[in-house]
Amino acid sequence: IEAGDMVIAYLNRENMIPLVVRPGATYNNRYGTYRHADFVGQPFGAKVVSHTGRGFMHLLHPTPELWTLALPHRTQILYQPDISFITAYLELRPGMVVVESGTGSGSFSHSITRSIQPNGHLYTFEYHAARAEQARKEFAEHGLSDIITLTCRDACKDGFDLEDCVDAVFLDLPAPWEAIASAKRAFKQNRMGRICCFSPCIEQVQRTCDVLREQGFRDVRMFECLQRAQD
Ligand SMILES: C[S@@+](CC[C@H](N)C(=O)[O-])C[C@H]1O[C@@H](n2cnc3c(N)ncnc32)[C@H](O)[C@@H]1O
Repeated sequence: IEAGDMVIAYLNRENMIPLVVRPGATYNNRYGTYRHADFVGQPFGAKVVSHTGRGFMHLLHPTPELWTLALPHRTQILYQPDISFITAYLELRPGMVVVESGTGSGSFSHSITRSIQPNGHLYTFEYHAARAEQARKEFAEHGLSDIITLTCRDACKDGFDLEDCVDAVFLDLPAPWEAIASAKRAFKQNRMGRICCFSPCIEQVQRTCDVLREQGFRDVRMFECLQRAQD
């Protein structure tokens, strides 16, 4: 671990804190103080103990899965069951060009980039300026600026402004049907592409399906993805 690295401080399964290592800074919780300077030179996975000796945590290498659990929420986010399902059904793989809107808290964006690395590209669109700015900052801190283009724009009113270059589209918007015509133009025109519209309400799903069919999309299917843990 070096100064400037992002680590996920793993306290327990419910409690993970993303920290950018800045020698001179400290992380404090009720079990004591942890000096970032003590993290430098440790291997990822190391256990560090608080100055009181009462607390400890592990310093994990960030992954999209850990980031989803640790990120600062600005919005509802996608979690692993949906992320895995959508990634599989969109058939995301290295080299693909993907459109996403809205960016939200960037939870899914991180997973998308891992699937399409090293030479794919993610175009993500978010109309809320502060959310867009925060996501842009995090993508830069995580070394993703080259693979992600984030545009602050209303994807429904102003579209994606992309033509004939995209393999897959993911819409997590209140009114995804308003972005479908623009998504259609963005797809590579000479091959099959896939679109996923993620909505919590059946009325949204119905409107989306109607517009998908009107726009000529085929094989329109709806899934509800539930996770049940067995203790
Ligand atoms: C539920 S969040 C997306 C969460 C994201 N999938 C994640 O995993 O972190 C929906 C986002 O869409 C944005 N949004 C809503 N309507 C939009 C529009 N017309 N154009 C662009 N972004 C929009 C909202 O500001 C919000 O940040």
